[in-house]
Amino acid sequence: MDLSNKVAVVTGSGRGLGLAYAKDLARHGAAVVINDVDKETADKAVAEIRALGGRTVAVVAPVGPTETAQQLVATAVEEFGRLDIMVTNAGILRDAVVWKTSDEAFDAVNTVHLRGTFTCVREAVLRFRAQGAGGRIICIGSPAGQRGNFGQTSYSGAKAAIVGMVRTWSMELQRAGITANAVCPVAATAMTETMPIFRPHIESAKKTGTLPALLRRDIGLGTADDAAGIITFLASDEAADITGQAFAIGGDRVALWTHPQLSGISYHDNGWSAEDLAAEWPNLSEHRESVGEEFPAELTGGGK
Ligand SMILES: NC(=O)c1ccc[n+]([C@@H]2O[C@H](COP(=O)([O-])OP(=O)(O)OC[C@H]3O[C@@H](n4cnc5c(N)ncnc54)[C@H](O)[C@@H]3O)[C@@H](O)[C@H]2O)c1
Repeated sequence: MDLSNKVAVVTGSGRGLGLAYAKDLARHGAAVVINDVDKETADKAVAEIRALGGRTVAVVAPVGPTETAQQLVATAVEEFGRLDIMVTNAGILRDAVVWKTSDEAFDAVNTVHLRGTFTCVREAVLRFRAQGAGGRIICIGSPAGQRGNFGQTSYSGAKAAIVGMVRTWSMELQRAGITANAVCPVAATAMTETMPIFRPHIESAKKTGTLPALLRRDIGLGTADDAAGIITFLASDEAADITGQAFAIGGDRVALWTHPQLSGISYHDNGWSAEDLAAEWPNLSEHRESVGEEFPAELTGGGK
């Protein structure tokens, strides 16, 4: 798969999944604009990619404000002549249940994930449309956004919204030959290390060098590199017809997330009163949806 005439921006790519995406894109020939808030991390990423023979520069700036998005696109154009691929990956966690979520935590998470995705995609699309040669939007979602997750009010909201925007963009951008897809990864990174359910397994994997099949297959959690190939694939010409999809990737597993559909449809002439609905609920309740991610009992110690 040859991306040698393509130019990518990957936000939050100093470390973790973003760095793995940037390295894989560079390995396949793309020039990559690295971005991070942390200069040391960004510089290290640039040195690593250059050592592999890749073409790259860093923009040290916080994703969220429009100015950063403009700087990212301008750098791609000034340094490498164009922009073909925008990967919105930068992210933070401020985990708390809703009654302990502060305005500051909510705004911080939504600024990076939701506003950052919106501003970067808008700038990329302006450039793609001006170039007139299509483009690739790849936005990073999360299982937490697809299913909900206890203690992740801000994060699950932002990630669900990102996938919602991707579906809209896939419709709006089709005529311009621009695809928009979401990727919901799961990988052992600094971010997942902070999650109690994964922490012991990731710590023991650091010692043994391998993640157990329970993680790699059953819940699809592997290394950052395991989740990188899908970004390169979606960025390639081979994925020109793939748009509006949400991929699940991690460890040895790949899958598509289903889109919400209506189920248990009933009709009542002249609309539904509260009493009509109470009478109908026993039928409708058969179609109730579960919430939250479902983990194997071996991982949770028996509970859910
Ligand atoms: N690790 C997982 O299992 C997992 C699961 C689902 C989704 N994700 C998503 O994948 C993305 C990357 O996660 P990760 O696990 O590699 O996290 P990470 O914490 O290891 O890396 C995130 C990087 O983003 C940078 N960053 C933070 N705020 C930024 C900002 N405003 N502007 C630019 N850079 C910023 C950080 O400095 C860091 O280098 C995130 O969007 C995350 O929500 C990760």
